[in-house]
Amino acid sequence: MTTFAPIETARLRLRPLRESDARDIHSYQRLPEVVEYMFWEVRTLEETREHLARRLLTTGLENDGDVLVVGVELGGADGIPAQAPRLIGEITVFLHSVANGQAEIGWAFHPDVQGRGYASEAAGRMLDWAFAELDIHRVEAHLDPRNTASAAVCRRLGMQQDALLRENLLFKGAWADTAIYGVLRDERAAFVADRGGADGGGGA
Ligand SMILES: CC(C)(COP(=O)(O)OP(=O)(O)OC[C@H]1O[C@@H](n2cnc3c(N)ncnc32)[C@H](O)[C@@H]1OP(=O)(O)O)[C@@H](O)C(=O)NCCC(=O)NCCS
Repeated sequence: MTTFAPIETARLRLRPLRESDARDIHSYQRLPEVVEYMFWEVRTLEETREHLARRLLTTGLENDGDVLVVGVELGGADGIPAQAPRLIGEITVFLHSVANGQAEIGWAFHPDVQGRGYASEAAGRMLDWAFAELDIHRVEAHLDPRNTASAAVCRRLGMQQDALLRENLLFKGAWADTAIYGVLRDERAAFVADRGGADGGGGA
């Protein structure tokens, strides 16, 4: 089992989720614009608590099908802000195949902190955690091509579009396409090196 331990980026702290995060998580999972391209609808606080309780059971990744959700707080190597840290978003890593070294990454952030590069900074660090700690060969991201903000995060991480599956989903009552972005271990290493090595994901 590779257990996740907290990581600091320039501006953020990535840490395991806690039961006490429910209200912060609910503050964005209750918003229609956040769940527009997610597989679920807006959640009530109770649904958020139930989902969080299931996620708290996974503290690391080991077997095919394991899903790790990591919380993202403001405050990293540049210092903790004066106000109490609040959870602003989450990064999810899905371990698809240990034998084939395949994983998937996903993200969701509160709209009031979007547009500052936080999602790319956090996702970039989790991508590198997956490559370093899990001996992963390739990481992919699945998204609705209409989700241009998410596609932009992929590109900021050095991912490229590997596939476009046309109308492969009956998504919230209508056929929808899925874009699959991917990055190989060596490609990500070269991308980070080109950017000077620090927070290779659009961060500070
Ligand atoms: C997808 C999502 C995480 C993207 O959030 P985001 O804030 O746009 O992404 P980033 O954190 O990478 O921020 C990038 C933006 O910050 C800007 N920015 C400002 N300061 C920056 C900095 N210091 N470093 C990097 N970028 C910075 C960039 O220019 C970019 O702006 P632009 O969108 O106008 O080009 C967000 O839209 C979201 O949570 N959506 C709902 C959930 C969702 O759909 N998840 C994906 C399902 S597949």
